[in-house]
Amino acid sequence: MSCCHYALVPGNESAFSVDPATIAFGPGVLGEAGEHLKALSCKRVALFTDATLAGLEPVAVALKAIRAAGVDVEVYSEVHVEPTDASFRKATEFAKGGRFDGYVSVGGGSVIDTCKAALLYATYPAELRAYVNAPVGDGKPVPGALPPHVACPTTCGTGSECTGIAVFDDLALKVKTGIASRRLRPALALIDPTCTRTLPSQVVAASGFDVLCHALESYTARPYTARPRPDKPALRPMSQGRNPWSDVGSLEALRLAGKYFVRAVHDANDSEAREGLSWAATLAGIAFGNAGVHLPHAMSYAVAGLVREYRCPGYPQHEPMVPHGISVIVNAPSVFRATAPTSPERHLQAAAALGADVKDVSGASAGFVGAIVSQVVVDLMRAAGVPNGVGGVGYTEGDLEALTRGAIVQKRLVDNAPIPVDDAVMQALFRGALSYW
Ligand SMILES: [Fe+2]
Repeated sequence: MSCCHYALVPGNESAFSVDPATIAFGPGVLGEAGEHLKALSCKRVALFTDATLAGLEPVAVALKAIRAAGVDVEVYSEVHVEPTDASFRKATEFAKGGRFDGYVSVGGGSVIDTCKAALLYATYPAELRAYVNAPVGDGKPVPGALPPHVACPTTCGTGSECTGIAVFDDLALKVKTGIASRRLRPALALIDPTCTRTLPSQVVAASGFDVLCHALESYTARPYTARPRPDKPALRPMSQGRNPWSDVGSLEALRLAGKYFVRAVHDANDSEAREGLSWAATLAGIAFGNAGVHLPHAMSYAVAGLVREYRCPGYPQHEPMVPHGISVIVNAPSVFRATAPTSPERHLQAAAALGADVKDVSGASAGFVGAIVSQVVVDLMRAAGVPNGVGGVGYTEGDLEALTRGAIVQKRLVDNAPIPVDDAVMQALFRGALSYW
């Protein structure tokens, strides 16, 4: 028996779930924020943003709309770009003290994730590690419903507005980790592509590569039919593996990224490209919120967490930091070279969607398909002017063990990969990612 080309395995999972995100997408939609909050019965809301965005148009538009709807609003602009355990705690203190009945986030993934964490810990106070994914944290379930959160992304990347995931950097453990729960998914995502018009080129490159990896990883993740059937439907994980629903969004996001990514990076005035990439980010966000990502993201947590000196143009320069999308993409060609043999046709389709010429490669060997898909990603990396691999953000052969340790503990993501991964495999993947050109 099969479902949409997924062969069912006796005793294994035979169903997948779809928890759709609620979205309004289009130019000008940020101006609707107030009316949406009113409809959600909010009277006093916290608006989360970062120090740079606090003085820019998207925040001004959102505040005007919220106040015009008669909703009281207080701004928190101390979100840390690439949040940490310390910055999550600070944001939580703000949320606890404000008697808020709703939350708004205006910014990139860092802002949206910080807002998710703050409203969670303000509503159900606990030690930070309580809800953090095991084995880094205790992995406790979120106890109940959360107040409404309207997420307004200003980059075209993270997809955080569509997911129940919040990621942060644990400073003591030097590792990125996260909180994952369906309850953390924002009540509404307001996606206004005009917000991306003023983004610097390198921010579009980093966030666009995040989009591309969300789509590629969701499309190639372990199939949902490979998981054992859970005892109860409630135990079906949020990262359930690739499935017919996530495939639709992933493939279309790849096609849009292939068409618009380079244009969106290099020309801020190309509104068609930036709008197309925003829609790709939304579709990829829906797909990975449903299927889950795998190895490039698992590895990225170590790449970002162990950073020493790297600073990225277009981002705050006061401390070393690898932007999320860069920390992900540097691993991708090495990973997809390794995963191609698990589903060569699927990897070939993905490469074609990204723009690779695959006319004459039907029936190609799995190794050749791996080379094609990794090359199309490398070509896009070179076109966008990002680092040439893990080496390009400051790591050497001597760091492979530490990187492996930081990545292998990302169990939720490692288990969602289509290949079995132990320490030796992880280290080989990092070695293959040191330099692509
Ligand atoms: Fe991501």
